[in-house]
Amino acid sequence: MEKLLIQEMLEEKGYIDEKIDPKLKLVEEINRLKKEKNAVILSHYYVDGELQDIADFVGDSLQLAQAAAKTEADIIVFVGVHFMAETAKIINPSKKVILPDLKAGCSLAESAPAEKFAEFKAKYPDHKVISYINCTADLKTMTDIVCTSSNAKKIVESFPKDTKLIFAPDKNLGNYINSITGRDMVLWDGACMVHEKFSIERIINLMDEHPDAEFIAHPECEKPVLLLAKHIGSTSSLLNFVQESDARKFIVATESGILHQMQKACPDKLFIPAPSTDETCACSDCSYMKLNSLQKLYICMKYEQPEIQLSAEVIEKAKVPIIRMLEVSK
Ligand code: 13P
Ligand code: SF4
Repeated sequence: MEKLLIQEMLEEKGYIDEKIDPKLKLVEEINRLKKEKNAVILSHYYVDGELQDIADFVGDSLQLAQAAAKTEADIIVFVGVHFMAETAKIINPSKKVILPDLKAGCSLAESAPAEKFAEFKAKYPDHKVISYINCTADLKTMTDIVCTSSNAKKIVESFPKDTKLIFAPDKNLGNYINSITGRDMVLWDGACMVHEKFSIERIINLMDEHPDAEFIAHPECEKPVLLLAKHIGSTSSLLNFVQESDARKFIVATESGILHQMQKACPDKLFIPAPSTDETCACSDCSYMKLNSLQKLYICMKYEQPEIQLSAEVIEKAKVPIIRMLEVSK
């Protein structure tokens, strides 16, 4: 395919739109390309099951950043969202990092534009900045240390109690960490469009219908939802919890993709996605994560596009808080 055409497609659609022979065995082809190009596929728990099953490594945001830091592959194929692929590129500037769809963004990352955040930060000159990994590389350049949902408590507690802190961009995670650490971090007003949509009334009704089910939630959910939860944790923490619990049924308040791993790990247990406020849509699906598909993965590996491109200056500055997080999380 011509280079110019590829560029146009990437600009317009975010992925290369090529007709694929329906007889092509995509899983076999992807595995062939992986070997041929010495590529590694990293998939987040929120993408479709078939994209988790084809990965060399499936995990939460921290585990994927750790896997990216360790890999010896020449190409990192990130099946997740843009900020995750960006993080992998910042850790590995000399490697090629590609993702199936450039438009796989994140409402949290979008809620904190770098210029607006710079103005906000300027109001608190004596504060350190902790940024949730779900943010742009530009925001990471203004950060002292990055965190994910699985290490946020540890990262916050790595600062002395009297350190003044800003936490961005997720106010729900920030509020939750304030509540369990007794800190009073200044919070940026951002939220995840998926985790904010869970309906407290519909969850309570579901709990009444299934009194034997345990309700578990991701800390990106709002406080009233978290107050109902038997366990609160990152995707990997929720996955561990359902394996260790004696309960046979769970109502799960996070993106629906994680149910694939839960069902695989515990085939005899029942997992019910928590309902959202909108009865007409599958709102516990992240529309960004779900932009990934087997077809786009194949095409992206074939053309090694779309590729993450960042300036050397952004990489140099954003790397510092990410490496700091990886050090603290060891
Ligand atoms: P974790 O992978 O840290 O659980 O975060 C979930 C998430 O929202 C990723 O976008
Ligand atoms: Fe971003 Fe929420 Fe989607 Fe995670 S689930 S990628 S936080 S929009």
